[in-house]
Amino acid sequence: NIPVEVKVVEVGPRDGLQNEPVNVPTNTKIEFINRLSETGLKAIEVTSFVSPKWIPQMADNAKVFQGIQKKSNIDYPVLIPNVKGLETALSVGVKEIAVFASASEAFSRKNTNCSAEEGINRIREIIDSAKTHNLKVRGYVSCVVGCPYDGFIKPLAVTKIVTALLELGCYEVSLGDTIGVGTKKTIYNMIKDIVNVTEAKNLAIHCHDTFGQALNNVCTALDLGITVVDSSVSGLGGCPYAKGATGNVATEDVIYMLHGLGSNTGIDLKKLIGVGHFISNAINRPTASKVNAALYSK
Ligand code: HMG
Ligand code: MG
Repeated sequence: NIPVEVKVVEVGPRDGLQNEPVNVPTNTKIEFINRLSETGLKAIEVTSFVSPKWIPQMADNAKVFQGIQKKSNIDYPVLIPNVKGLETALSVGVKEIAVFASASEAFSRKNTNCSAEEGINRIREIIDSAKTHNLKVRGYVSCVVGCPYDGFIKPLAVTKIVTALLELGCYEVSLGDTIGVGTKKTIYNMIKDIVNVTEAKNLAIHCHDTFGQALNNVCTALDLGITVVDSSVSGLGGCPYAKGATGNVATEDVIYMLHGLGSNTGIDLKKLIGVGHFISNAINRPTASKVNAALYSK
C-alpha cells in the first residue's frame, strides 16, 4: 500500500528544541523556521505555549511566532496545554493549535500534572474556546504503545483517547510513540484497533527513534492507510518527561524513503538537508539523520 501523496508535519522547532540543553537564541529559531518554510513543507509546528516553569526552552514562544515569515500555503500550528496558553497564542495571531493527551495515566501526570481524564477535560475547555475563534485543532496521543512509567499500553486505551479527541473536534490525531519502543507488531496492532472505529485519514503517525524502529514503524502506518507523518529535521528532539527518549524520526530520512517508494511529498530533499545542517551546526551537535550524513557533502 504505497500512498500517492504523503503530508509531512515538521515538528523540529517544537518537539526538537523543547529538550535541547543548549540555549537556542530566538533569532536562530526564527531563521530555522524561515528556512524550513522554503523547503516545500506544508505544516511546521513552531513552538509551544506551555508553562516556562516546566519547559524554559519554549519561553520565547510569542517572539518566535511573531518573528517568523509566514507563507499563506503553510500551516504553523503551536502546542497548547491549557486555556492560559491558548489566550497567549491567540494574542499573537495563531490560526492552528495542537492539544495533547496521553494513553497512559502516569505519563499524563508527569507531563501535564493531571490525570488522563482531567487532561481530556482541559482539552475540552481549550477546544470550546478555540472553536469560537475558528482555529484548526490537531490532537496528539502520547505513549501509544509504551510508557516510561506504566510499561506496555493496550491498543484499546489508545483507541478510546483517539475517539474522544476526534469527538471533541480535532481534525486529525497524531499517534505518538513518545519513547520509540514500538515495533512493527505493536504499532500494527495499535493502528488496527483504531481503524476499526475511525478512518485512517483522521490519523497521523509520530515516531521517536530511540530504538531505531521509527522508519519501519512509519512504513507500517503507511501500509495501514495513514498518509500524514510527523518528523523533525536532523532527528532533533525528545520529551523532557520521557527520560532517555531520543528525537523524532529524521525528516530527511522520511523524505528519502517516501521518494524512494514513489510517493509525492512536495519537499525538496536537498534544501531540507541544508536546513538540517544549519540547525545541527547551531546547536553544535552531529546530525541524527543518516540521509543527511550521507548526502550533505555530495
Ligand atoms: P501546573 O504547574 O500544574 O500548572 O502545570 P499551574 O496552573 O499550577 O501553573 C504553574 C505556573 O505556570 C503558574 O505560574 C502559571 O501561571 C504558569 P506562577 O503562578 O507559579 O507564576 N503557567 C503558564 N505560563 C505560561 N503559559 C502557560 C501556563 N500554564 C501555567 N500555558 C501545565 C500544568 C500543563 C501548565 C504544565 O504541566 C505544562 O506546561 N506542561 C507541558 C509539558 C510539555 O510541554 N511537555 C512536552 C510536550 S508533549 C510531547 O512532547 C509529546 C508529543 O511530542 C507527542 C509524543 O511524542 O508522544 C506531543
Ligand atoms: Mg514527540
